[in-house]
Amino acid sequence: MTVIGTGYLGATHAACMAELGHEVLGVDVDSVKIDALKDGRVPFYEPGLPDVLTRNLEAGRLDFTTDYERVAEFANVHFLGVGTPQERGSYAADLTYVYAVIRDLVPLLEGDHIIFGKSTVPVGTADELQKLADELVRPGASVEIAWNPEFLREGYAVQDTITPDRIVLGVRRGESRAEETAREVYAKSIAGGTPFLVMDTVTSELVKVSANAFLATKISFINAVAEICEIVGGDVTRLADAIGYDDRIGRKFLGAGLGFGGGCLPKDIRAFMARAGELGADQALTFLREVDAINMRRRDRVVQLSRELCDGNLLGRRITVLGAAFKPNSDDVRDSPALSVAGSLSLAGADVSVYDPKAMDNARRVFPTLGYTDSVEEALEGAELVVLATEWQQFRDLDPEMVGELVQRRTIIDGRNVLDVDKWQAAGWNLQALGRTL
Ligand code: UGA
Repeated sequence: MTVIGTGYLGATHAACMAELGHEVLGVDVDSVKIDALKDGRVPFYEPGLPDVLTRNLEAGRLDFTTDYERVAEFANVHFLGVGTPQERGSYAADLTYVYAVIRDLVPLLEGDHIIFGKSTVPVGTADELQKLADELVRPGASVEIAWNPEFLREGYAVQDTITPDRIVLGVRRGESRAEETAREVYAKSIAGGTPFLVMDTVTSELVKVSANAFLATKISFINAVAEICEIVGGDVTRLADAIGYDDRIGRKFLGAGLGFGGGCLPKDIRAFMARAGELGADQALTFLREVDAINMRRRDRVVQLSRELCDGNLLGRRITVLGAAFKPNSDDVRDSPALSVAGSLSLAGADVSVYDPKAMDNARRVFPTLGYTDSVEEALEGAELVVLATEWQQFRDLDPEMVGELVQRRTIIDGRNVLDVDKWQAAGWNLQALGRTL
């Protein structure tokens, strides 16, 4: 098989499919990325992926190229995993890369091919791509487009790809070979008991965005309740524990704090709203506007709380922001709540020091004007306020006494509700947390 697009999704999919025993060729237009992958270097931080990559390169089951001619000859099964970022100046997803793959690849194909789309796309895209492929395909050849959305989480990408909690396949109406082929590709996972759900393409496209929209809604729900808790003096974490015991609700994704970011949840809910508008059903998803707004208000809240803790004026105040990645175990800073807060504090005149165990280079590229340090200790040195913005284990494990020796003032905002309140308070810290009155 080939895997087209070797970003987060594609590189992981390529390496993991090889790990499952398939012969895989990954392709990308970015030769720097391809050279790195050929060399056994993963161009982003993902625990476990470098091992899977090198093991399968060495076993000869995995290779990478920038050459579409090779892709066309190599296999009859292709996975499409290119990015669908938010379009500039709109909420919609930018499908340029997805269409470019079909335009570049399909005219080269001979024989019968299946392209399994994995990218997150607006509902209806697979059918449009099928029409385009039918126009471009050579006489005597055939191309079927099926959709096979991806649910992997950054930080757990290998595990989520090798043992997913479900496999979803959208097949076109009428004659289709996609199910039979997908059953072969995923034979090991299916034999291991992974549910395999086959449906039409539009439903499969909707499954993906609905899953992310639901997760975003769950986070914003608890963060909205956090706003109320802040006013009445409640404790949102105790509340989440209590409602989470109800199986119908569940405790996962009720982590109140700085909210969601990353390359998926924010852009996916926006693209879903944009698509609903195009379909004449914008009312159906207007609640996602609120989900987005609640999420963004948490960032403002941390900036406001920081100002209050700095006696109403951030100018020249020494603030340490712990974390830059949008979540722990990732070096991804796309729409990162941590970086957004650090940036806002800095733009308001604070002297901000940022430390993140893995995301420093990416953060520096996006926000070069912030102060970055080589160690957590250096970042904390002389701080008047500490903001814990990404819940890396290293930050959870910080010893409040040790940190207290480094800072100027023992004041901390726990933006992720992960610190042991009693321990930090016992060490003389003024600890403030989102959605809790401590
Ligand atoms: C998300 C989905 O979880 C994956 O299933 C999906 O495949 C992926 O998007 C995608 O579409 O590619 P990911 O972006 O890696 O995965 O991140 P999540 O683990 O979902 O976390 C998203 C954000 O929500 C993070 O910023 C995290 O800090 C935040 N979050 C999560 C909370 O604020 N509270 C919680 O309780 C949980």
